[in-house]
Amino acid sequence: MDPHSSPCTLWTCLLVWGISLGHVEGASRKPNIVLILTDDQDVSLGGMTPLKKTKELIADHGITFSNAYVVSALCCPSRSSILTGRYPHNHRVVNNTIAGNCSSKAWQKTQEPNAFPVLLNSIGYQTFFAGKYLNQYGAEEAGGISHVPPGWSYWYALEKNAKYYNYTLSNNGRAQHHGENYSLDYLTDVLSNVSLDFLNYKSNNEPFFMMIATPAPHSPWTAAPQYQKSFSNVSAPRTSNFNVHGKDKHWLIRQAKTPMSNTSIQYLDNAFRRRWQTLLSVDDLIEKLLKNLETRGELNNTFIFFTSDNGYHTGQFSLPIDKRQLYEFDIKVPLLVRGPGIKPNQISKSLVANVDLAPTILDIAGYNLNKTQIDGMSFLPILNNSPNVTWRTDILVEYQGEGLNVSDPSCPSMGPGVTQCFPDCVCEDAYNNTYACVRTIAAAYDLQYCEFDDTEVFVEVYNLTADSNQLTNIAKTIDQEILQKMNRRLMMLQSCSGPSCRTPGVFDPRFRFDPRMMFMAQGPQDQQKIFKVTQT
Ligand SMILES: *[C@@H]1O[C@H](CO)[C@@H](O)[C@H](O)[C@H]1NC(C)=O
Ligand SMILES: *[C@@H]1O[C@H](CO)[C@@H](O)[C@H](O)[C@H]1NC(C)=O
Ligand SMILES: *[C@@H]1O[C@H](CO)[C@@H](O)[C@H](O)[C@H]1NC(C)=O
Ligand SMILES: *[C@@H]1O[C@H](CO)[C@@H](O)[C@H](O)[C@H]1NC(C)=O
Ligand SMILES: *[C@@H]1O[C@H](CO)[C@@H](O)[C@H](O)[C@H]1NC(C)=O
Ligand SMILES: *[C@@H]1O[C@H](CO)[C@@H](O)[C@H](O)[C@H]1NC(C)=O
Ligand SMILES: *[C@@H]1O[C@H](CO)[C@@H](O)[C@H](O)[C@H]1NC(C)=O
Ligand SMILES: *[C@@H]1O[C@H](CO)[C@@H](O)[C@H](O)[C@H]1NC(C)=O
Ligand SMILES: *[C@@H]1O[C@H](CO)[C@@H](O)[C@H](O)[C@H]1NC(C)=O
Ligand SMILES: *[C@@H]1O[C@H](CO)[C@@H](O)[C@H](O)[C@H]1NC(C)=O
Ligand SMILES: *[C@@H]1O[C@H](CO)[C@@H](O)[C@H](O)[C@H]1NC(C)=O
Ligand SMILES: *[C@@H]1O[C@H](CO)[C@@H](O)[C@H](O)[C@H]1NC(C)=O
Repeated sequence: MDPHSSPCTLWTCLLVWGISLGHVEGASRKPNIVLILTDDQDVSLGGMTPLKKTKELIADHGITFSNAYVVSALCCPSRSSILTGRYPHNHRVVNNTIAGNCSSKAWQKTQEPNAFPVLLNSIGYQTFFAGKYLNQYGAEEAGGISHVPPGWSYWYALEKNAKYYNYTLSNNGRAQHHGENYSLDYLTDVLSNVSLDFLNYKSNNEPFFMMIATPAPHSPWTAAPQYQKSFSNVSAPRTSNFNVHGKDKHWLIRQAKTPMSNTSIQYLDNAFRRRWQTLLSVDDLIEKLLKNLETRGELNNTFIFFTSDNGYHTGQFSLPIDKRQLYEFDIKVPLLVRGPGIKPNQISKSLVANVDLAPTILDIAGYNLNKTQIDGMSFLPILNNSPNVTWRTDILVEYQGEGLNVSDPSCPSMGPGVTQCFPDCVCEDAYNNTYACVRTIAAAYDLQYCEFDDTEVFVEVYNLTADSNQLTNIAKTIDQEILQKMNRRLMMLQSCSGPSCRTPGVFDPRFRFDPRMMFMAQGPQDQQKIFKVTQT
């Protein structure tokens, strides 16, 4: 048929449209989806405490995942995993710089065109983005702010990293500068306002997807004026690993000065309070958004996801403030979901990860996941309380250490490292703080197995059942057979792609040892690793 000829007459077209419009507005219309993503919000150290309204509006009406993890505890790799549903070794974003593929041209060419918003958009979703995207978004070498990633119908993205005032937004590719007047510029509130505007101007004929990515509670922790005195009596929690020397851990943790100086402790307590203060504006945003959806009668047809890009620590193992490490405080995040069909007030212990967000959202929208290269898996059956769901028992966590290009006097004789001064300087990262872990949560096992890619091939293993704060590295005492199983599983996951990332873990009753997979996964270096690890 001539592609330009109309397949129907005006009269029959109207009939068809009329019928399909009626259909769209009816009960079978696809649900809307909202993803709210905070920046650096922990869950292990009380990060959800300030969000009282969010808990009531999302958690009490839906499900809280108590074992939600990120596959890399750093902003850009984590956000890239959220967008692609892939592990870092597959999306290739390894750190927060363009050289590490953060929003790089290579990312724009190979990953961004397959990100889940593109797929949602292709099946008729209106897509809206507001907030922090990827740390290098808008950088000149990455095409500047005129680069609007494919798949987004409406785009309000922050240039580069988290800020609260004095920033530039890409308003659908055009620069919008903001100063420091609270009532015009406070970024969390601007995101709230542009989100409500979107609900006003969006089309009512197609379902929508919104992603709102707040700067809070990332540094510089600038609270709204009305919240700057909140939590004045709160201090960072003195967990059993607070201000404790991680003596049996890898070198980066061992070098942290213990006890921390009083000035460092004052600094981290102050940071802790200010982080909570910034979250109060996020709580307001969520309340306004959900009330607005309710008023429109759309809340009951909308899934709302709330999560963070990584956790955070304040004084654990004497590391004053940052993320990046393999411990629960840095890799575990909040995850709350409400939506049609989700029963209220549920808590799920299922092991889920940020790579699962894309497939879950696509599954909700009815996209055929078989057509994707996604590593994660849809947890929609858990949301739906489907009977007899067999869920995975392990995930991969991988991190490539960041360094600076100058030798830093505060990381004495350690070469390049990322140092933070509070005012005492502590080395929080280095190139060889590069590791990969298997985090296992199975019926009888709650374990973490990690290997460092450094000259020591250092191994850390934790039994979270006995030691939830990861005080004791049991690499040398754990049953050698378990150690070897986890080592092999780690190597397999480090080279997994798509379905192989979802194969049953070694503590899963469905696990079947496949020697072919082993040989595919292992190069000579890995063989050597097995040898070294099993000799420790
Ligand atoms: C960046 O991504 C490209 C495309 O996937 C890849 O070829 C390159 O090796 C990646 N760079 C790094 C540092 O991983
Ligand atoms: C914003 O920029 C102005 C002008 O450069 C500066 O004076 C002010 O301190 C900045 N404010 C914040 C909160 O960064
Ligand atoms: C901030 O903006 C508001 C609204 O435009 C205006 O009324 C107020 O005077 C501004 N404040 C400052 C300090 O410029
Ligand atoms: C957001 O909208 C409200 C209501 O219109 C307004 O009072 C407030 O100043 C706006 N805030 C920002 C940062 O634009
Ligand atoms: C801080 O003050 C509030 C209100 O007075 C009180 O409810 C809370 O228990 C106090 N918290 C701490 C840590 O002292
Ligand atoms: C540090 O704080 C502790 C507990 O508050 C106090 O006992 C100690 O004297 C302080 N040390 C210094 C050097 O100020
Ligand atoms: C959702 O709420 C609207 C407005 O309150 C109502 O008309 C509609 O029937 C509800 N739909 C469902 C599926 O509960
Ligand atoms: C996806 O692939 C699986 C396994 O091959 C198959 O069982 C399933 O029917 C496929 N789903 C769709 C929607 O094509
Ligand atoms: C779920 O498991 C129960 C008990 O094993 C079984 O009776 C039931 O048929 C299963 N349901 C489905 C839908 O597979
Ligand atoms: C980021 O990763 C790239 C590629 O591995 C590396 O060249 C660069 O030094 C890294 N940047 C930092 C700050 O570590
Ligand atoms: C880590 O790197 C630093 C220099 O960057 C070096 O001094 C140290 O020996 C390395 N440690 C290990 C265990 O590889
Ligand atoms: C972990 O700790 C629990 C509680 O002490 C213990 O029962 C279990 O055997 C330990 N698991 C391993 C693998 O060591």
